[in-house]
Order: sequence, then structure tokens, then C-alpha cells
Amino acid sequence: MSTVCGIFGCLSDTAPQAIFEGLKRLEYRGYDSVGIAVIRGKKVTVEKNKGRIAEFITSIDTAQIESDVGIGHTRWATHGAPCKENAHPFTDCTGTVAVVHNGVLENFMQLREELLKKGHKFSSNTDSEVIPHMIEEGLASGMSLKDSVVGAANSIKGSMGCVVISSREPDRIICLRRESPLVIGISKKGTFCASDIPALLPFTRKVMVMQDDTIAILKRGKIEIEDLCGHAIKPVFTVINWSQSVAEKGGYPHFMIKEIFEQPLAIKETLKIPLNFIDRAAGLMEGKVYLTGSGTSYHACMSASYQMAKRLGIDARPIHSSEFTDAVSELEGATVVAVSQSGETADTLSAIKYAKSKGAKILGITNTLGSSITIISNAYICTQSGPEIGVAATKTFLTQLTALDMLMLRIGLRRGKLSEEEYRTGRRQLNGLPKTVEEILGSSERIKSLAMKYFTRRDAFFLARGANVATAMEGALKLKEISYIHAEGYPAGESKHGPISLVEPGFLCIFVAPTDSARGRVIGNVMEMKARGAKIFSIITRGDSEMGQVSDDYFEIPQVADFLYPIISTVPLQLFAYNVAILKGLDPDKPRNLAKSVTVL
Ligand code: G6P
Repeated sequence: MSTVCGIFGCLSDTAPQAIFEGLKRLEYRGYDSVGIAVIRGKKVTVEKNKGRIAEFITSIDTAQIESDVGIGHTRWATHGAPCKENAHPFTDCTGTVAVVHNGVLENFMQLREELLKKGHKFSSNTDSEVIPHMIEEGLASGMSLKDSVVGAANSIKGSMGCVVISSREPDRIICLRRESPLVIGISKKGTFCASDIPALLPFTRKVMVMQDDTIAILKRGKIEIEDLCGHAIKPVFTVINWSQSVAEKGGYPHFMIKEIFEQPLAIKETLKIPLNFIDRAAGLMEGKVYLTGSGTSYHACMSASYQMAKRLGIDARPIHSSEFTDAVSELEGATVVAVSQSGETADTLSAIKYAKSKGAKILGITNTLGSSITIISNAYICTQSGPEIGVAATKTFLTQLTALDMLMLRIGLRRGKLSEEEYRTGRRQLNGLPKTVEEILGSSERIKSLAMKYFTRRDAFFLARGANVATAMEGALKLKEISYIHAEGYPAGESKHGPISLVEPGFLCIFVAPTDSARGRVIGNVMEMKARGAKIFSIITRGDSEMGQVSDDYFEIPQVADFLYPIISTVPLQLFAYNVAILKGLDPDKPRNLAKSVTVL
């Protein structure tokens, strides 16, 4: 389960070879398990395992899977460890139906219970495995394969990019799309479906992106599309002329910008993390609390520490992971929240191993299931960003903040710091995030024009107050990481105690100044900078005319609850850094001297 796995299916003379070729085209994203199902005689044959495609192919007897219809999957684990049992495809009890699935099924526990009562047997701990068993129920009642898939879709709540084969109807593949992408294509080589366009390009450039709540029935030389009520929809194909490298980036020029634009989806998926995960994590938070991480993940720690203090009265100290062993000694009974997108950063692992040896409990927050952090931690929350390829962290930062906010709301409720009503309001506000981020992304052209104005600067300050200081620091980190402009993030009130000496006419000061409780005091800091000739570019709440007037340039963000400003204010800063790097002719995906995951101390 996840919206980020790779799917490929085809009716073609040499289906397994095509499936492997297609899946390899998706593998740049870094998957951890792989599987294939083909129709042979009256049964489906399944091969699957942990690991990458190349090892997988050499480990199986390909003569045993020769077929002209099949489906394959590369998994990037989000729930359920990366292992053979949890790899797709999944089959039903009769072994005549096989399914690959991307997405998250929200009511799978209940569905699984019902199916178990009816005698179905499960072999994994994924949500996806309920789908073939539900289809089996439909087939047993005399329905066609397509109607059984529709029947399952009608009972399932959640997102699905789902591809199904059955030896009972061996001439077809049924595709179902709901909130998780699927594309289909056809050519003389066969009929194909995949989770992403690059996988289809070796076989056809004539593709169609499926719409939500539609079914595609793929046959040799024929594709039929229907809505879930059985009404036919005319297929509309597009001819793709992207190069392979642009195709991998979904048509975007760089992974970084693709990942910035994936943020609404990444947050949406993270908001679906089941409450029992969050509660297990919240239950761990006793004694002294420390937050630790490196780089961008440290900024998530900083942001959370402000919010924990302000909203919940919890004194949670953020410490850079590389400093941890030198900064703390008394850890018996303490909780250390370790934040790391990769879950493999050596500094962070060293900090938590030290903390554990001193009697602390560890709560990991990571984007990578099965990573070292998930193994060392007493409990963990896995953010649902999908793999992040660009070296500069973007979507993983926003989902870290989202997960930390979800955690804080639960802690607040448990400790009586938030009433039921306040908790529900907080959740509602969080649930509005994907839409708000989407709205900000809709104004990305405005940021481009601001980047044009400022990209030749050599220095920049990023200033804010409160939890937005972490956002300002993240904005500065993004700019320096990928555009090599000297940038510093500071608490706005501190700027007068030193940094201001650098300010001379034309110096760029970027203020993160939404209308939260600190906004009134930020104005004073803006005036101090203006008085020295600084150019002021501010991130402001829409309609804040006062802040707009004192700024040379501003970018408006929608009004949200105070605790959400650190998240949404980050988006224009990411876009700014990206556009500046592009204007300077730099590759934002591979900044010099930096690595995505630093596994040395
Ligand atoms: C490296 C990357 C940073 C990242 C940091 C922490 O330094 O260049 O972008 O923020 O590692 O990574 P983590 O995987 O622990 O979040």
C-alpha cells in the first residue's frame, strides 16, 4: 500500500519481459520489493520477493512465467515491512485472481474481519490483500470479473490504482482508478497499463491518463472505459513526445519541482495515517522530551518544539543530532523524538543509539519504512511522501510537520490540554492543508517573477518569529543548498544583535510574517531593516495591507490557523530557491557537495 509504488500490466506476446522492462523504468524511485503474476492455464502464477528487479529476475525461473497476459508491481513499503509476504501481487483463496494495488484502503480492517469470518485466508499484513478476496466473493456469486472489481470498489473506502487479472477471464486486464494514478496505452506491441507514463514509453507513446472512479477493460487490440455505473466513456489518447529523463519526472524539468508539486498529495496521504499509530507514539511521550534531527529534519524538530511549548506546555528541546551526545547526559525515562526522512542519517542514528543506551525511549518519524530508525525506535510514525529523489528535502519536510502536528493534537487531547472540540477543530484545520498548499502552488508564477528580481543577490536573511523561525531557517537552507547564495535564517528579534551590521542598501531580507500572534512585533523588525536600505520581500497573509505596504515585494498566502503557518509558508520559499537555482543555471536536484542521505558521522 502506498500511492507511490510502481504498477505495470500488459497483454503482449512476451508479457513478463514487457512487465520487467516497464517496472525498470519506474525503478529510479528506489523500490524495495517486486512481484509478477501471469495467467497460465486455469491458475495464475505469482513470483515475488524483497529486493530490486535485477536481482529478482536472476532469482526466478523465467520459463515458468511465460505468458501473454500479466501484471507486475514494485513496492515502496509504507505500512507492513518490506518482505516477500507483503510484496504484490496478492491472490484470492482459489488462486485464480491476482491484484496489484497502489493507494491506502481506509476501511480494510473491517473488510478483513468480514472476509475472515467468511473463511478467507490472508498471508500478508497489507491492506491491499482484501481486494482479491472481495473479487473472489463477487466471482463466486456469479458476477463477471469487471463487475466483481466494481463491487469491491463500491465497498472500499480509500485510494486505489488497482490492476486485476483472473484465469477465469484470461483475455483481459481490469484497471480501476480512484485517487491513485493509472495510465493506459495501446500499440501493435500490445495493450498496456502502468502507474506512470515512463513505464509505457518503450511500448507506446499513445497513452491515456485514467480519470477517478473509472474502469478500463484492456484486451488485445482494444480498450474499453466505463464509469462505475457501467456507462461507456470514449477513450481520449495523447501522444507523448517526452524524452525518457523528462518522462521519469512526470513532465517536470526536475525532481525537486515535481516533489514540491506533489506536496498536497503527500500531506493528504500522511493525514490518513491510522490513529492507533499516532496514539502508540503519543503514549511514549513521557518524562523529558528531546527532538533530534539533521538539516531539514532538524527544522521540523525546531518547529515542533515551539508548538509543543506554546500549545501543550511541553518543554521539548530540539538538538542537532550531530550535537546530541555532547549536549545531553541525563536521559533515563526521557523520550527522544528522532526525525529523519531517510531513517539512515548517521548523526541521527548515533544520537538515538546513545539516548537508548542511557535509558531513553525513542519515537522515530521517518519517510522510509524498514529503515534503521524504524528498527531502533520503540515506536515510529511513517510519513507518506513517497520516495524523494531531489537532494533538497521538500515534500518530506511538509509531511514531517504534518505528522508532528497530528501527534501534538493527540498528546494535547490525552493530557487534557485540548478539549475534544479543540482536537476536532485542529484535525479539521489540518485536513484543509492539501487544498491550501494546492492554492499556493497555483501562484507559483508570482514567485518566479520575484526570483527574477533577486537571483543575482549574494546574500539574504530569512527572518521570522515563533515557530516560523524554523520555516525561515528552512527557507535559508533551501536557498543556500541549491543556489549557493549565502543565506541565514534568524529569529527576527535577534537580527539587531549582530546580523544587522551586514545590512546595506539593497541587502535582501525575506520575512516570514503571516498574521499570527507574533506578526505585530515583526513589523518593527522590518522597519529596522528598511531603515538601513534593505529590500524587503515578505510572505504575508492575504489581505494584510499593513505588512504589504512596508514590504518592497510580498507573496500572499491564505489565512489559516496559526499552527499551520510554518507549513504553508515553506512552500513559496521552496519555490523561490528552486527558481533562483534555475535562473543561475544550476541543477537543483544535484547540488554540489551534498548527498541525499549522509551515512557517515
Ligand atoms: C542531508 C541532506 C539534507 C537532509 C539531511 C537529513 O544532509 O542533504 O537535505 O535534510 O541529510 O536527512 P534525513 O534523511 O535524516 O532527514
